[in-house]
Amino acid sequence: MEIFSRTHSQRLWDAFPVPNFLKMPAAGVDISDNSVKVLALHEGGVRMYGSRSIADGIVSNGEILDTASLAKVLTALKRKLGFTYVRVALPEEKAFSFQTRIGIGKNDAERRKLIEFQLEENVPLDPAESVFDYTIIGEPDEAHLDVAVTVFPKKIIDQYYAAFNQARLVPISFELEAQAIARAAIPRGSKGVYMLVDFGRKRTGIAVTQGDVVIFTTTVDVGGDALTDVIMREYKVKDQEAEKIKNEQGFMSGGDKKFEETVLGTVSALRDEINRHFSFWDSRVRKEEKGNRIKKLLLVGGNSNLEGLPEYLAMSVHVPVERANVWGNVLSFDDTIPPIDKAHSLGLVTVIGLALSSEI
Ligand SMILES: Nc1ncnc2c1ncn2[C@@H]1O[C@H](COP(=O)(O)OP(=O)(O)OP(=O)(O)O)[C@@H](O)[C@H]1O
Ligand SMILES: [Mg+2]
Repeated sequence: MEIFSRTHSQRLWDAFPVPNFLKMPAAGVDISDNSVKVLALHEGGVRMYGSRSIADGIVSNGEILDTASLAKVLTALKRKLGFTYVRVALPEEKAFSFQTRIGIGKNDAERRKLIEFQLEENVPLDPAESVFDYTIIGEPDEAHLDVAVTVFPKKIIDQYYAAFNQARLVPISFELEAQAIARAAIPRGSKGVYMLVDFGRKRTGIAVTQGDVVIFTTTVDVGGDALTDVIMREYKVKDQEAEKIKNEQGFMSGGDKKFEETVLGTVSALRDEINRHFSFWDSRVRKEEKGNRIKKLLLVGGNSNLEGLPEYLAMSVHVPVERANVWGNVLSFDDTIPPIDKAHSLGLVTVIGLALSSEI
C-alpha cells in the first residue's frame, strides 16, 4: 500500500528513478481538521518534529476547504524545520477499503487490472474518478491472491497535491492514515489480527489489520473534544481548565466520582462503537473458519491517554487492550530515550509511521 502517486502523477514518478525515490529521506506529514504534524527520522532516531494547530474551516472531515491557508501553515513548518520531500497520510473519512480475492496475475499491472474490474461493485465511487492501491495479504495459493484494496476519490488527492505544491513541498507517497499508524504501532514482523483505535479530537479511527497490513477501516464521530466539552459544562470551566481536568483525572481508577459520571456518556458511546466492530469482525472470522480472531486492541491518538481507558475497554472486548508503543519500530536500541514523552507520542503515531517508510 502507499504509492498513490504512481497512479496519480506520471510526472512525479518520472522525475525520480524508482529505487532512489523510495529511499529518499522524507518527513511524514499528518493533516487533521485541527493540526498539522511533521516528523522525520534519521538513523534510528528523530531528526526533527513539530506541529501547528489550524483554524476551524480550513480542513473539514479530511477535505481541504481552504488551500491557501493550509499552504501557509505548511510553509511555516517547512521554514522552521527544513524539509522538502514529504510522505502524506490521507484521511480515513474519505477512504473505502475492501478485501477481495483475485487471480494471481503475472505482474503488478495485471493485478491492478483485475482489481479495477471489481471496484464498481465494492465502492460507491466512479472508477474513473478514483485512485486505488492494494497490498497482498498472507501467502498466495497457486491460482489466487488475497488483497486489501484502498480507494480514494481523485478529488481528495488533487486537493492534497495542490496544498503541497503551493507550499513548494514534494509529496513522494500518499497512504491511508491507518496504514501509517499500523507501521508504527504494530511490532514489526507480527502476525495475527489487531484492532487499532485512534482516539483523536473530533473522530475516532478504527482499523483491523493482519500483521501490519490494514484490511478494514472505519471512522466514528466520537472524539476527545466531546469529553472536553462535557467537562466544560459540568465543571463550569473554560476549555484550557477542562483539558487539564481531562488529562489529570483518572477514569475507573477509584478516583473522582464526578469525573467518572461526566465522561461516562462519551466514553461508553465510543466503547459501544468499538464493540460493534469488534464483534462483527470476530463473528465473521468464526463463520468463515479461516484467519485469526483479533488478538489485541491497540490504542493511539492523544485522547487514548485518558487514564483507565484500556481497562474499561478490556471489560467488553475480552482481549488485551494496550496503549501502543509508537517508538517500538523506530529506535535501534531499547535504552534510547525518545525525545518526546509518552503522552505526546501517542498523538504522533501517524507521522512516525509515515517517516518509517523512509527508514526501512
Ligand atoms: N492525558 C491525557 N488524557 C486525555 N486526553 C489527552 C491527554 N493528553 C492529551 N490528550 C488529548 O489529546 C488531544 C490531541 O490528540 P491528537 O493529537 O491525537 O489529535 P489530532 O490528531 O489533532 O486530531 P484528530 O486525530 O481527531 O484529527 C488533545 O486535544 C488532548 O485533549
Ligand atoms: Mg490524528
